[in-house]
Amino acid sequence: MSRRPLIAGNWKMNCLKGDGVALAEGIAARLKAEPPQADLLVCPPATLIDAVARAVAGTPLAVGGQDCHAAKSGAHTGDVAAPMLKDLGASHVIVGHSERRSDHGETDATVRAKAAAAHATGLVAIICIGETEADRDGGRTLAVVGSQFEGSLPPDATPENTVIAYEPVWAIGTGRTPTNPEVAEVHGAIRALAAKRLGTDGASRLRILYGGSMKPSNAEDLLALEDVDGGLIGGASLNVEDFWAIARSSR
Ligand code: 13P
Repeated sequence: MSRRPLIAGNWKMNCLKGDGVALAEGIAARLKAEPPQADLLVCPPATLIDAVARAVAGTPLAVGGQDCHAAKSGAHTGDVAAPMLKDLGASHVIVGHSERRSDHGETDATVRAKAAAAHATGLVAIICIGETEADRDGGRTLAVVGSQFEGSLPPDATPENTVIAYEPVWAIGTGRTPTNPEVAEVHGAIRALAAKRLGTDGASRLRILYGGSMKPSNAEDLLALEDVDGGLIGGASLNVEDFWAIARSSR
């Protein structure tokens, strides 16, 4: 089963309008000139989704949010609902990023509700899971990732409306990554769990991204692994050349 890779940039809390639009335009221009063997997505902060979506309209570059609330609307000061993201032109939304889990106390149940809200709106939910360094040192990686997967996936998840991102917390923004066999082991375990939820065929179509210090120098090796179907990139997605080099590394 060949899965088309997804290379997604998570801009986190970076960029003002001018540099965000320029970054998106730079990527879209490369994409049009030289289409890679991958789908490309940028997830700017909520404040820039409108401007970025307008700037890349008509190009194959997709735009996503970094989070959404579980409710469609209502008294939730400062939050953003999935239909609001959709309204601005987003097609995807990241949910359960480890920074949301740690900064905002999001649990698997919260993440599951947010993913369900994304699905109800017609957005693809990119559900993030990953162990801490203490989990890995304690030999609990597969148990923790497995339990986050089970707890964060809503009942209506399909390979079309859901992407999993495996992001070891200790690899995010640190320049450190697991070894290729360690990444392969976790991705294989996630696909095996997915087979129980989605069936073998469903699991074979599910995209499982790797995230955590992915950069041009390690992307080719990581993206060549059997069960790695793309990347969720933080720091290196803020630079057109780096993001493009990663996109071009995908098989
Ligand atoms: P870095 O690529 O900066 O390590 O961030 C990864 C990440 O958290 C993407 O969601």
